[in-house]
Amino acid sequence: MPSMEADAARDAPRRAECRLILLEPLRSSPVRETLKIAVRRLVLAAICVWPCVVIGTGCTTMALRRPLPRSGPHGVYLTWQRDPTTTMSIHWLSRGESGVGAIAWTPRDEDTWRAETATSHALPHSNRVVHSVELTGLDPDRDYRFRIEGAAAIHAFRTMPADASEPITFVAGGDVYKETFDKKMYVEAAARDPMFALIGGDIAYDNGEPSRVKRWFHWLDAWDEYMVTSDGRLIPMVVAIGNHEVLGRYDQTPAEAPFFYSLFNWPGETGCNVLDFGDYMSVIVLDSTHTHPIAGAQTEWLDRTLADRVRTPHLIVVYHVPAYPSVRRYDGPICASIREHWVPLFEQYGVDVVFENHDHAYKRTPLIRNGRVDPDGVLYLGDGAWGANIRKVHVPENTWYLDRAVSVRHVIVTTIHGDERRHEAVNEYGEVFDSYP
Ligand SMILES: [Fe+2]
Repeated sequence: MPSMEADAARDAPRRAECRLILLEPLRSSPVRETLKIAVRRLVLAAICVWPCVVIGTGCTTMALRRPLPRSGPHGVYLTWQRDPTTTMSIHWLSRGESGVGAIAWTPRDEDTWRAETATSHALPHSNRVVHSVELTGLDPDRDYRFRIEGAAAIHAFRTMPADASEPITFVAGGDVYKETFDKKMYVEAAARDPMFALIGGDIAYDNGEPSRVKRWFHWLDAWDEYMVTSDGRLIPMVVAIGNHEVLGRYDQTPAEAPFFYSLFNWPGETGCNVLDFGDYMSVIVLDSTHTHPIAGAQTEWLDRTLADRVRTPHLIVVYHVPAYPSVRRYDGPICASIREHWVPLFEQYGVDVVFENHDHAYKRTPLIRNGRVDPDGVLYLGDGAWGANIRKVHVPENTWYLDRAVSVRHVIVTTIHGDERRHEAVNEYGEVFDSYP
């Protein structure tokens, strides 16, 4: 100890001298300024990087930074125009110089390839052509393969079963690709091996603006990559229009939604349509006043369409703006108009479940009839948070029409089996955070 104390006493002046030597430059103005700048840069970098770290988009946004192909087909997607038990519509994009397209296709368990020529049209405000082939007369619940002329990849799809004697699963969501692209929700949705995805508007957020058409190229490429089941089937989509497909957003015409109506020939120019899955399920797609008014022709069509399907075991409706909003005002004019014109028809004809969107949160209502909770009422699920930033919800305990409301990205996984339905809300980490019944 004595020797240590002696050493410390001997070294003390030297340490003091070193501190002076180290501190002195800091007192000089140029060095201090340099350090200030360095600190500022570090703080700025942290501010910029932190949100990416928090929301986990650091690597997943990379998917959409891939260069678009300079030639050849890309952005393959599947829809339906007629009964999904026996048909499939195949679409893809190509650069403008390729105005003609064709596919070869075969049942997956055979090697009997046959050719089909596509119909093609220019995608407005772009150098892309949209190609479409509708295959009809297919067998229900059968896998098929197809290859697009000029591409190496072979895709697969499955037709819908002829009945619901075995469980059938689909996913539903909306408000899909807004600020950034995050693949997590797509991966979790595809992991459920759904037969299709029901998308309730605000898809690529093009806003009907020519400068934003590329968002569709990237999004369709990403769908093609991630929305594939565990056995390699591309997942078809059934779409409704939202305000972010439209220049002007509300009270416009199809001309103000040039990309939506060019990419999706169903539901088509009327903005509303019905898809009958054999005789066990019907999906009705509506336009919540973006390019067609709610009252008038659309409501009259809805009345006739529902009246013809009162015996359908699973009667399902999808549209964008909610009648029962989890975030926005209950007395908002579009919400009120839907409750005035459509909701009485849902109740009259026994609609089973309505998928709503637009509010960027999760919600589940109780069964509602005549403006109150009723065991014979209609279930509303929503509210559009597949990929958009989430919003703060109304408190369910203070809101008569909300049984559950959560600010979380999600898809709703619905399984029908016979006359039964079950819904599970799945977040982007694959966790089931709500279910009904
Ligand atoms: Fe919206």
